[in-house]
Formats: sequence, structure tokens, C-alpha cells
Amino acid sequence: MNLEKILNNPSLLVKELENFFSKYDATVLHIQEGVRDNFERFPAPGDGILHFFTIHALFSNKGIFGIEGDYLDEIHPRFSFLYSKLASYLKKKGINTIGPHAQFALAIIPYVDPKGSVKKSLPKYMRKSRGQTIIASKNLIKGSPYYASLIKNYGSFVGIATNNNTIVGPDGGLIAAACKIASTFDKKISLLEFGSGGGSTTLAIARINKLATYIGNDFSREMVTYFKEKVIPKLNSYTIESSIFLGSCFEMPLEDKVDLISVGVYYQAQPSLFEKRGNKLVRCLNPSGVLIAQSGMIEDRFITNILRNTVPQRNQWPWYKQSYCLNKYFRYVSEYILEQEIVLVATNNYKKYCQIRKVFNFRKKN
Ligand SMILES: C[S@@+](CC[C@H](N)C(=O)[O-])C[C@H]1O[C@@H](n2cnc3c(N)ncnc32)[C@H](O)[C@@H]1O
Repeated sequence: MNLEKILNNPSLLVKELENFFSKYDATVLHIQEGVRDNFERFPAPGDGILHFFTIHALFSNKGIFGIEGDYLDEIHPRFSFLYSKLASYLKKKGINTIGPHAQFALAIIPYVDPKGSVKKSLPKYMRKSRGQTIIASKNLIKGSPYYASLIKNYGSFVGIATNNNTIVGPDGGLIAAACKIASTFDKKISLLEFGSGGGSTTLAIARINKLATYIGNDFSREMVTYFKEKVIPKLNSYTIESSIFLGSCFEMPLEDKVDLISVGVYYQAQPSLFEKRGNKLVRCLNPSGVLIAQSGMIEDRFITNILRNTVPQRNQWPWYKQSYCLNKYFRYVSEYILEQEIVLVATNNYKKYCQIRKVFNFRKKN
């Protein structure tokens, strides 16, 4: 079944999905459909547009994704298992949702049935991923309308492909958010970044002359080597003091006070990052400091919902912890769609919150 066939007759897909989810004691509640730029594949296949379907499904097995434990180690791998089963189920039916040529994506938003019971959990599926190869800016422009537009608006960046060949950078949402937030400070800002990749966020702020210092980290050896060889010399040319740490976001030393923390690590690491380091991150921020986190694709709000605790208590999964939620650490948490990505913006400073609202909600007068 090719993309055209699905789009012309979506009931074919709906039937397959209902059949698949029934095997996991789940009911499909509703399916949302939409399009966005296909920015995780390079070159972007076809017309560069990705069609997506978000499946909202109600699970009667409360323990399907585990009962307790750390989100990243215990819960997410079971959720990944379900995704891998769905992808192979659909592949057998001729629907391709993964790989370099996919123009079609599915997102699962699971809900727990409060009347359900705890049964067997799914096995864990682990797939290691890290930023690995660099795509030159001129090639990014040629192969992707999305990145061509980002580069036009914010200057030249490299692309990042993972060891699984997914494009994970530059992060359009973080670049846009960081530049807007930097503009609310009178002085140049200090930036702390988790998941620095090819350095696009820091370079974007440096170019608008708003960056004073930078501390970053990435658990990819290849990314840190690239950062040391190519990004730090550029930051030096702007007289920006910088340092980069090789290792996970859970281990990076947090000593200095900064104005902005940017969280660009994989979405699934973010609940655990806030649980383990949320209080420490708040202590790292200056009084008017801000944290930004790119928390999901527009079709997939699952991690964003966890970070915002948007689900009523009775519908909560047994593994859910309040400590995953950004509101436990920050009084003001806002959400924006920037460059087709979901970005959360958090601060404890009311004046800064008002300044941020102004720059984000700015409308041009006719
Ligand atoms: C979404 S990309 C960020 C790209 C970056 N903003 C850029 O513009 O190039 C995520 C990066 O974070 C790294 N990463 C992912 N999870 C991480 C973790 N738990 N700790 C440290 N680095 C992580 C990956 O290796 C990858 O380079």
C-alpha cells in the first residue's frame, strides 16, 4: 500500500491500526492527521513533506510500559518496543514508516484506562543513537527546503546525522527560541547546552552578538571532536569563552551560573534529566534565567505531556512521577511551536516571563 493509496483511502490504515492495537488490549480512540516538513530525513524524499497520523489509544493493561523506575531506562524502551512492532506490522502490509525514503510517520499517544488492571509488561527494545556525521551547510540547503529556510533566517549551520541515519540537527525550535530569549536581555548572555551537536544554537546567538560565554556537552565522541575543531575556533573569533564536555547530560558538571539553559538531548531523556537534575538546574540559573527544551515533534506530544503533567491524576500511568514535570521546578512554563517543533520555555522570574511573552507573542501591525 503506497502513500497515495493510504491518503486516498485512510480507512485502510485505520483498519490495520485497530487490528494492531487490539493485540495489545488497546482501543484506538481517534486519529489526527497532518503534514509538516520532513526534516529528519536527508535528502528529504519526494516533495519534502511528511504526512503524519497521531494515534490516540486507550490501554486497559496499566502495566504495559512497566510499573515503576526511571523513565529512560525502564519505561521508554517498552514504548519503543511497541513502535518497532507497529513499524514491522505495517511494513508487512506495504506501509513504510521508517528508513530514508519514508514520507509518512505515525505517533502513538497512549492513555491508561482507569478501569483497567496491571498485566504483563512489554519487553524492552534498546536502540542506541548518537550524533555521528556532519552534513555540510551547502548540501543541507540543496537537499532540504526546511533547512534551506532555517539557514536563510539564522545563518549557516551544519546538519547532524545519527548512527541510525536520522537527522537530529540543527534544532530549529531551539535556535529560534534561544535567539528570541537572548534579545530580552540587555547584556550578552551565558549559555549552558545539553546535546550541543554541531553547535547551531550557540552560533546563532553569537551571530546576533548576544553571547558572552558557552558551556556545552554531548555524549557523542564524534560531535565533541567536531565541536572542538570547528565550533570553538568560530566562538573564539567572537571572543566568546567556551568549553565542551564529553559525556551524558546526567554527568555533566554543573558549577557556573548561567542566563540560559538549552536542552537539546533526545526527548526520551528529558523526564529523567529533570527528575535527577531539575533542582540543580534551577540553582544554576541567574535570578532572571530561562530554560528552554525542545520536547517533541508537532505530531507527538507524549513527552511534552509528561513534562507538563497535563493528564488528570486518575488517568495517570502507574510509572508517572511528579518529579518529571517542569512545573515542579519552575513557576512559569510556556509552550510554543517554533520552526515546526514543540519548545517549552521555563523561568522563575515574573519580569522575565512577561518579557518573553512579549517577544513570542509579537504580531506585526498591518
Ligand atoms: C537533537 S541533537 C542536537 C543538535 C544540536 N542542537 C545542533 O544544532 O546540532 C541531539 C544531540 O544530543 C546528543 N545527545 C542525545 N542524548 C544525549 C544525552 N543523554 N546526553 C548527552 N548528549 C546527548 C546527541 O549525540 C546529539 O548530538
